Amino acid sequence: MMPTTMPDVDLVDPDSFADGVPHGLFDWLRREEPVHHHPHPETEGFWVISRAEDVAAISKDTKTFSSYEKGVFLEEDTVLPLDFFRQSLLVMDPPDHTRLRRAIARRFTPKTIRDLEPRIRQITSDVVDEVIERGSCDFSIDVAAQLPLAMICELMGVPHEDREQVFAWANKISSFDDPSVRADIDDGLIAFEESYIYAIELAEKRLAEPQDDLISVLAQPESGGEEPLSEIEIANFFQLLAVAGNETTRHTTSHGMQALMDHPDQRQELIMDPALMGNAVEEILRWGSVVNYFRRTPMRDIELHDKTLRKGDAVAIYYCSANRDESEFPEPHTFDIHRSFSNQYAFGGGGPHFCLGAPLARMQLRVMFETLLDRIPDATNAGAVTRLRSNWMNGIEHMPIEFTPADRLNA
Ligand code: HEM
Repeated sequence: MMPTTMPDVDLVDPDSFADGVPHGLFDWLRREEPVHHHPHPETEGFWVISRAEDVAAISKDTKTFSSYEKGVFLEEDTVLPLDFFRQSLLVMDPPDHTRLRRAIARRFTPKTIRDLEPRIRQITSDVVDEVIERGSCDFSIDVAAQLPLAMICELMGVPHEDREQVFAWANKISSFDDPSVRADIDDGLIAFEESYIYAIELAEKRLAEPQDDLISVLAQPESGGEEPLSEIEIANFFQLLAVAGNETTRHTTSHGMQALMDHPDQRQELIMDPALMGNAVEEILRWGSVVNYFRRTPMRDIELHDKTLRKGDAVAIYYCSANRDESEFPEPHTFDIHRSFSNQYAFGGGGPHFCLGAPLARMQLRVMFETLLDRIPDATNAGAVTRLRSNWMNGIEHMPIEFTPADRLNA
């Protein structure tokens, strides 16, 4: 039953997300007030955009809605001062965004990603080998976190011995609000600086001695004579991937595992008919929708649903709400691997910033769940799930599970 008054939920307070995304509020807003002004303790407040069609329209209209002007978070300066963050693809507007995105996309092609499948399969198999004899593990740490980290390190050519360090940096930078992961803001800044220096050094090495990895490719001029990326651009991209590609895929994997454990009938169907996996992955992405929102800033006054968004205002587009919009997803709060999809919003609203790593994320999720259902088909929860404390990322930090032990595949 829909409440008659607006649920009293503070979308800034990370504790409002302690038990999950406050869907009751978003359900109400989509129906009653699709453009809603929300207070913020440190700013003049922000607009909450909750309907799928508005999230899509704003994402596509980069001329009116800037990512660069005031960044993509509710607070302009987060772990990073905005000026620094603006060097990241995510916080650029056209034409700078268009140029850099094209230069990266030309080198980070669907073929690059398809070629990674055998490695993804091997890494996934090794990750499962590490836990399978034990019959229990912390799924989020021991399984879900391992594949995306290994994949990005592999893609970027990070040597094996540096991977734990890259993981620790990525964790500290992306966990803005979670005191269990990051003691204070300085910790995040130090992690950022250290990883930045590391990325520049790696880019320098690959410039001098190219190898078979993405950093080397980004550092080389294209055959058509196009300029290569600079060391700074490469370092920024490396950092974007370390956060954008790691934690997002990790948390989506954990949400997917939880959903399949909660719906053993659907899990059984997937085991019997692996052809359903492609659709199941879309439903897992929709269901988990791990990036709650990104911010945009209007470059002029604009009317939307009888409200006036003023030039310079903060506008937060909530992907987690778009993914539960009943006008696009009937019975949106039901997990259903048979749902028919034309679209979902976990990777953004379909504009020029649409997730560059979507094909890689989809492939990792598919291979991961194929492997898990084959090798540990009877997993169940074995303790309390601990969520990431954040108003921005819908994450699962710890998820103890148990299952029937089995033999490793590789010694
Ligand atoms: C399930 C996993 C993932 C989710 C849910 C996710 C989600 C997102 C979202 C919501 C955006 C912003 C879209 C927009 O503003 O319109 C984004 C951008 C981006 N993502 Fe992902 N992502 C995932 C995995 C990855 C992976 C694996 C990579 C790379 C290896 C990656 C690289 C990027 C990059 C580079 C951008 C910035 C693109 C731009 O600004 O042009 N992501 N992602």
